Amino acid sequence: MKNEVHCLISAGPTREWLDPVRFISNPSSGKMGYALANAAKARGLKVTLVSGPVTLPCPTGVDRILVNTAFEMQEVMGQHFPASSLTIMTAAVCDQRPKVFHEQKIKKDKVSEIIELVPNPDILLSLGKHKRIDQILVGFAAETENHIAHAKIKLQQKNLDWIAVNDVSGNQAFESDDNQLTLISNHGQSIIFEKEDKISLAKKILDLVYP
Ligand code: C5P
Repeated sequence: MKNEVHCLISAGPTREWLDPVRFISNPSSGKMGYALANAAKARGLKVTLVSGPVTLPCPTGVDRILVNTAFEMQEVMGQHFPASSLTIMTAAVCDQRPKVFHEQKIKKDKVSEIIELVPNPDILLSLGKHKRIDQILVGFAAETENHIAHAKIKLQQKNLDWIAVNDVSGNQAFESDDNQLTLISNHGQSIIFEKEDKISLAKKILDLVYP
């Protein structure tokens, strides 16, 4: 359809492989991103969900693209970003990856000698650099201290319209069905949501970022 509004959402963790049987990752469940994809679909948007490895089923009517590494996620996000009016990056992208991928399984007595990490690209930062005036870009941040101050810095650095930040000092948010968020805009608005389930939270976030 011609006049469809495109929405691009990333979700879940990335995996950064050391050898064919070992990777670095994190416990992201993808629930927040999948809830946003459902909510965006329910509003009639054409949703592309770029998802790292999670156990959740593909939301009905959503175009899901499965990825594994941060590089794969970067490539797919970059392809779909220009057509997207609303882009939301909830994915827990691994900040680092092993410097070398070993084609053969590393012998266990050698693993600790071999792990050397290098930084991964910051996908959201590069999307922010290419953002047009007609596009809305939303990031997520998980912080363990000074979460509002740190989130405001990321909002500016990554050229975002909104950032949703949660305090993960107790590590509650990752696999939970509930979340407690503060949504901050680049116009200085700050909305604190009470702890609630990610499905209703997703609807409220969309009401604010894409009214
Ligand atoms: O800087 P920090 O990792 O806290 O920023 C979190 C936000 O940046 C999230 O929206 C996450 O999806 C995104 N991110 C990214 N690429 C990275 C790291 C984080 O897009 N390498």
